[in-house]
Amino acid sequence: MKKRTRVTHLPDVTVPPDDRPLVAPIYQSVKFSFDNVAETQRYWSGQRPGFYYSRVSNPTLRQLELALAELQGRDACLLTGSGVAAIAMSLLGLLKCGDHVVYFAELYPPTRALVRRLLGRYGVTSTMLSVDDTAGLERVLATTPTRLVVFESPTNPVLKVADIARITSIARTHGALTLLDNTLGGLHNHGEFEVDLYAHSLTKYASGHGDVMGGAVIARRELVESLREDATNLGPTLDPHAAYLILRGLKTYFLRWDAQCRNAMRIAEFLASRPEVARVRYPGLPGDAGHALAARQMDGFGTLVTFDLVHGIEAGTRFAEALELFSIAASLGSTESLVVPPALQQPRGMTDEQRAWTGINAGTVRLSIGIEDGDDLLDDLRQALERSHG
Ligand SMILES: Cc1ncc(COP(=O)(O)O)c(C=O)c1O
Repeated sequence: MKKRTRVTHLPDVTVPPDDRPLVAPIYQSVKFSFDNVAETQRYWSGQRPGFYYSRVSNPTLRQLELALAELQGRDACLLTGSGVAAIAMSLLGLLKCGDHVVYFAELYPPTRALVRRLLGRYGVTSTMLSVDDTAGLERVLATTPTRLVVFESPTNPVLKVADIARITSIARTHGALTLLDNTLGGLHNHGEFEVDLYAHSLTKYASGHGDVMGGAVIARRELVESLREDATNLGPTLDPHAAYLILRGLKTYFLRWDAQCRNAMRIAEFLASRPEVARVRYPGLPGDAGHALAARQMDGFGTLVTFDLVHGIEAGTRFAEALELFSIAASLGSTESLVVPPALQQPRGMTDEQRAWTGINAGTVRLSIGIEDGDDLLDDLRQALERSHG
C-alpha cells in the first residue's frame, strides 16, 4: 500500500473480546461498513443488527440513549443536538395542520415561540394557559379536540411545581398526549407519571460541565421510533463526541445533583431571612406554594433558587454585578454558580394577565447553584446584597 493510500486506510487494531476497555470508546465515525451488499441489505431490512450512518444511529449515541431511557423509566430515547431541538423534533413529529396544542405561559420562551410562531405557520392552533390553571385545562380540553399538552415542572425561572398527575389525567381523559420538558426536574424524576414524552436539555444536568450541548426525547418505543423516522430526514442528531462527553458527565450526575440541591436549600433559607428579598421561590422551602407537590413528586427539590428583590430591576443589576462567584450567564445545571438578573429575563409579547401568570416581576433574580463550597456562596450573596442595597 502506498503512503498516500495508507493515510486514508489506517491499520486495524482489534481489542480481544476478553480485554475490555472500562470506558467505551467513542465511535467517532460517520459511516459503518458491512462485508458485502447482502449484509448491508439485511441491515436495511431490519434482519440484522448493526450501524450504517450516524445521522440514523451510532453506538456511542446508542449507549447514551439506553442509559437515559432507563434513568427516566421508559424504553426508548432519541438524541438531538440541543434541548430545543428535542422539543422542536417532538412537536414537528407529533403534530399536523389542524391539530390543537395547549401550552403554558410559564414555559421556556423558545418552546412558547415554537408552538405559537413555527407551528402557527403550519396551521397548528394553540391555547396558552397558566400551569396553575388545571380547571382551565379541563375546560379547554373538554371543548376543543387537542392533540398535545406541553408543560414543564418545575417551571423556569419561577419554579412553579406542576400537578403532573392531574395534568396527565385530564389529558388522557380527553385523548391528548403530554410532553413534559423535564429539564429542571432532572432525569431521575417524574418517571412514575403517565407522561407520554419527556424532553430534556442534556446541556444542563446530564453533561454538567457547561462544555457540551445536547437534547433527548424519552418515551415508549413506538413514539420514539416514529419520531426517529422524521429525525432521520430532518437531521437534528447529536455528534458522537458530544454524546461521549455527556456519557462522561452522567457518571457524576447524582453527586452533582445532590450537592447542588444541598447548596440550593441553604441559599433559599438564607435569602428568605434577608430584608432586601421580598419573596423566595424554592420548592424545598416548607412555605413555598409548590412544596407539598414537589415533596411527593421529586427526589431533590432542584438546583435553581429564584427570588424577588424589593427594589426591582436596577437593584437586580447592581446585585448581579456585585457577585464575585456567580457569573451573569444563561443556562443551569453546571458545576459553577450563575445569576440571571431581572433585566435579562422580562417576558415579552404577552398581555398583562399572561405576564402575571409567568410570575416574573421587576425584581426577579434566578440563581443556578453549583457545587462550590456552600459557605463561600453564602458569603458572596451576603456581600452582594449589602453592596447593592447600601
Ligand atoms: C427548561 C428548558 N428547556 C429547554 C432548554 C433548551 O436547552 P438547550 O439550550 O440545550 O437547547 C432550556 C435551556 O435553558 C431550559 O431551561
